[in-house]
Amino acid sequence: MKLEIFKEVYEPAEDSFMLAEYAKKLKGKILDMGTGCGIVALANALHNKDNFVEGCDVNEKAVKNAEHNAKINGVKNAKFFVSDLFSAVPKNKKYDWIVFNPPYLPTGKNERIKGKLNAAFDGGRNGRRVLDRFLKECRKYLKKSGGLMLLSSSINGHEKTIRILERMGFEVEVLCEERFFFEKLYVVKAIRRD
Ligand SMILES: C[S@@+](CC[C@H](N)C(=O)[O-])C[C@H]1O[C@@H](n2cnc3c(N)ncnc32)[C@H](O)[C@@H]1O
Repeated sequence: MKLEIFKEVYEPAEDSFMLAEYAKKLKGKILDMGTGCGIVALANALHNKDNFVEGCDVNEKAVKNAEHNAKINGVKNAKFFVSDLFSAVPKNKKYDWIVFNPPYLPTGKNERIKGKLNAAFDGGRNGRRVLDRFLKECRKYLKKSGGLMLLSSSINGHEKTIRILERMGFEVEVLCEERFFFEKLYVVKAIRRD
C-alpha cells in the first residue's frame, strides 16, 4: 500500500501498524473511526474486495488525505467522511465491525499541539476523553454479534477499558500486546453478546 501523509494528519506508527495487521482480516461492513491517513481502512479494503469500508475523522484534512490515499491505491470499496465520533453516522446504521485507534495521551490545556494534529493525540486530562465517549455510543451502531477492534494502551488504563467492555456485555479478547519504550500497546477484539 502506498501512503502519503498530509500536513496536520497523524503519521502511522507502531499503533497503526498493529491495528491494521489484525483489522485487515475483518469481513463485512466496516467503520474505521478516526481514520487519519486511512491506513487501517485501506488495509482492510485492499485485502477484502467484497467488503465495504467507511472511514471518518473529526479532522477534515485527514478525510482528504484518506481519500487521496484511496485514489493512489485504486481502492473503490471505501469512502471517507468528516464526523465527530458518530455525529455524522445515520442513527439506524449498523456495522459488522468498528475499529478505532483513539487519541490516548493524557493532555493538559497547556500541552495541546497547535492545529488539527492535536486531535490525533489529545485524550484529555486522563487520556480517555474520546475513548470513553466512543465506548458509550458505539454499541448501537453494531449489528447483533458485531464487534469492535481497538488499539489500547497502558498509558490510559487498558484494564479499565477491558472492564468497561465486559460490563457492556462484550466478549473480550486481547489479540496481541507489545511493549514499546514507555508503554504497552494491545489490540483488543470485543464481540457484542447481548
Ligand atoms: C492516533 S490517530 C490514529 C489515526 C489512524 N487511524 C492510524 O491508526 O494511523 C487518532 C485519530 O482519531 C481522530 N479523532 C480524534 N478525535 C476524534 C473524534 N472525536 N471523532 C473522530 N475522529 C477523531 C484524529 O483526528 C486522528 O486522526
